[in-house]
Amino acid sequence: MTKKFFDRVYNPMNQTETRDFYDEWAAQYESDVAGAGYATPGRAAALLAAVSPDKSAPILDVGCGTGLSGVEFHRAGFTTIDGVDPSSEMLESAKAKGAYRNLSKIQPGAALPTGYPSIAAIGVIGCGAAPASLFDDIMTALETPGLFILSYNDHALEVSEFMDKLRSYTDAGKATLMAEEYGPHLPDLGSNSMSKVFVLQKA
Ligand SMILES: C[S@@+](CC[C@H](N)C(=O)[O-])C[C@H]1O[C@@H](n2cnc3c(N)ncnc32)[C@H](O)[C@@H]1O
Repeated sequence: MTKKFFDRVYNPMNQTETRDFYDEWAAQYESDVAGAGYATPGRAAALLAAVSPDKSAPILDVGCGTGLSGVEFHRAGFTTIDGVDPSSEMLESAKAKGAYRNLSKIQPGAALPTGYPSIAAIGVIGCGAAPASLFDDIMTALETPGLFILSYNDHALEVSEFMDKLRSYTDAGKATLMAEEYGPHLPDLGSNSMSKVFVLQKA
């Protein structure tokens, strides 16, 4: 594993720079995160499986990247998974996984596809990827009542706007927190290598 991309990913970037960054990282992303013991997708899939009544219901995997999150949802028994991502290079790698029904490129900040009773954003919202506004875009697109499964890594948990965004929904009664779990994210990276996984139900 080279630390080249991990050293850059948490630097501030706008959405165009973020897309270009992931285009550049795509070829090496999986060996880098696997080398650091990437555990969040598997934890998220297990948590969603524990609360989700219907494993054939479609899931939209927002920020699917190279497909590591979709692979874990598939492994947990979910059968209908669509993925979207702004990075063409990350999506190209996701195609080879065979875990997705459809994969498409999105423009950051544009409206997301609708008609999904579950939406996931694993390793997506927070420092190093999408802004907190993606949380609103997902809650708008999600069916009611629908499940939103997301993770915040330690870097995101240290920046108040990300938890403030989540609490703005639960405190206003617009969503119910169904499950929450703190555990390993990239354990072999050392410090700041945990993440919290949440399942919210839109009210
Ligand atoms: C750390 S990767 C996580 C990928 C995958 N979910 C996983 O667990 O391996 C973050 C992904 O978020 C995507 N991303 C960045 N900004 C985004 C945005 N505004 N909307 C949706 N996805 C975004 C990136 O292109 C990248 O593929």
